[in-house]
Amino acid sequence: MPPATAPAIPRHIAVIMDGNGRWAERRRRPRIIGHRAGARAVNICIDFCLERGVRALTLFAFSSENWGRPQEEVGALMKLFLNALDREVEELDRRGVRVRFIGERERFSASIRERMHAAEHQTRANTRLDLVVAASYGGRQDIAQAARALATDVAEGRLRAEDIDEAAVAAKMALADLPPPDLFIRTGGDHRISNFLLWQLAYTELWFTELLWPELDAATLQHALDDFAGRERRFGLTSAQVADVAPEKNPA
Ligand code: IPE
Ligand code: IPE
Ligand code: MG
Repeated sequence: MPPATAPAIPRHIAVIMDGNGRWAERRRRPRIIGHRAGARAVNICIDFCLERGVRALTLFAFSSENWGRPQEEVGALMKLFLNALDREVEELDRRGVRVRFIGERERFSASIRERMHAAEHQTRANTRLDLVVAASYGGRQDIAQAARALATDVAEGRLRAEDIDEAAVAAKMALADLPPPDLFIRTGGDHRISNFLLWQLAYTELWFTELLWPELDAATLQHALDDFAGRERRFGLTSAQVADVAPEKNPA
């Protein structure tokens, strides 16, 4: 029987998929084997979100800083990325997933950029799950591009400098149209943000696991959700205040 009050389901989950390299190294295999194994975990994560009614999932696939890895690893990751785009989009579309990419797209090859565009175009009308893939993404870069966009608006007379407030900045950041992540998950045992969504994670609940990304399973994701359901989100207020105002986890 379902519980009397359904546990709070995060509307938006943001994930740092970390630990692929170590997973492979522990098996004395090349790191790219770990990245390949990680692709399976991506599907587990998407399935889980679809089943639980999570509305948005943002996956950190490749950071601005990851370009600095050995050329061989970057090249292999690009190939993997291309294959995944070819292989998965049809099925994602069939399942009602709307796909989009955030990050510095111009750094990718033309063939990857074309497939990104095609995936976004094909799935644009879907409404079950917003899947955001952060690729060549950096939180600082995101803030810098927002600042640049605001400066341009001011220079061209569409905005006054004194009108720049939090809402104006938020509107220029990636994911402006989605609720901010309620839950952040990082696999791989490190407790850091690694230049992921810096602005958007301001009040996100953080959850870490030692598990390496290719080892991810639904039980681990359920564990994260259970932890999330037990947390009190105060948003700067007192416990008594939040108990008064909203017995539920997700503010409007
Ligand atoms: C995360 O796994 C995937 C990417 C950064 C592309 P890593 O490759 O960082 O794996 P570890 O952290 O070295 O184990
Ligand atoms: C963060 O992982 C980026 C992705 C998972 C895509 P990293 O492995 O790059 O992070 P650091 O270097 O451990 O901070
Ligand atoms: Mg790593």
